[in-house]
Amino acid sequence: MELVLGIESSCDETAAAVLEDGRRIRSNVVASQVEVHAPYGGIVPELASRRHLEVILPVLDSALADAGVGLAELTALAVTVGPGLVGSLLVGVSVAKAMAFARQLPLVGVNHLEGHIAAAFLEFPALTHPFAALVVSGGHTHMYHMPAECEYRLLGRTRDDAAGEAFDKVAKLLGLGYPGGPAIEREARGGDPEAIAFPRAVLRDGSLDFSFSGLKTAVVHHLKRSGPSILGPQGLRDVCASFQQAAVDMLVERVMRAARNHALSAVVVAGGVACNGALRQALKAEAEAEGIQLYVPSPALCTDNAAMIAAAGSVRLRRGECAGYDLNAVASLPLQ
Ligand code: KG4
Ligand code: ZN
Repeated sequence: MELVLGIESSCDETAAAVLEDGRRIRSNVVASQVEVHAPYGGIVPELASRRHLEVILPVLDSALADAGVGLAELTALAVTVGPGLVGSLLVGVSVAKAMAFARQLPLVGVNHLEGHIAAAFLEFPALTHPFAALVVSGGHTHMYHMPAECEYRLLGRTRDDAAGEAFDKVAKLLGLGYPGGPAIEREARGGDPEAIAFPRAVLRDGSLDFSFSGLKTAVVHHLKRSGPSILGPQGLRDVCASFQQAAVDMLVERVMRAARNHALSAVVVAGGVACNGALRQALKAEAEAEGIQLYVPSPALCTDNAAMIAAAGSVRLRRGECAGYDLNAVASLPLQ
């Protein structure tokens, strides 16, 4: 039996998980830092690394205890090395290296985006390459064509804000607090998605890139026109629903076009924004209409977690990719 301990600390969640034989989640512990950053309306990098330091050892202990696994039973360690906040990443990487050295365990560095995509394999055994994969989170909006295992062709990425960043910034403008995605989704439930015709960016060159800053600016202008104080509860719900619909439309349009352009009959959508119910519903409807198999992990595996890191790490380990003790964090690590 292979038991891989995954460690994730790239942003504002400290997470550890034990994965059996690349698929079976034995434990998946996530310590969120939401309450640390909420007063500031966004992530404060210095506070994030400090909190990671405080909680990483208890989180590791919980993951091992939940799995009923001792350190001596582990087969290998997998840790996120990037992309992310370098001070945060270093906490996970340092702990992983220390454990690997102390227990003489193989260690593998994992790209966080590869982890998000790997989450789909945990839940959908039927998923096979090739497929299109959209990673849509607070830091990334990247679309890939994956012709085979560990092969990535970047088809499109955001030219400005990530989709989750747009949700977070608009929520902040509306006084809805942090993180913004879930707050906007909640408000949007009672709103009219057609109340305000917010723009859907279409890039003239026909590329699969994304752009969300125009949408965010349109919300700013709308608020200036109507005045946030006189928006009222229903006005607020309508802004949220209309903003969410515009963001969802842009994401769904690109995903479907990517599949069509590259003759792909399967699509993976992962990352924190993939928790969004309106996005999940719209993707399902479009995928059904176009005869495309859609794989969206459940919300707990869409937001940052270490089971996905262990899953991606298991694949890399199987391919013989082991890191040395010079393994380092890379804030802007590309996926290739
Ligand atoms: O994947 P994730 O946990 O961390 C990153 O790697 O960034 O994603 C966090 C992002 C945040 O921007 C958050 O607002 C967004 O995912 N998010 C959502 C929802 N839940 C989380 N966005 C829209 N609707 C949601 N329900
Ligand atoms: Zn993430």
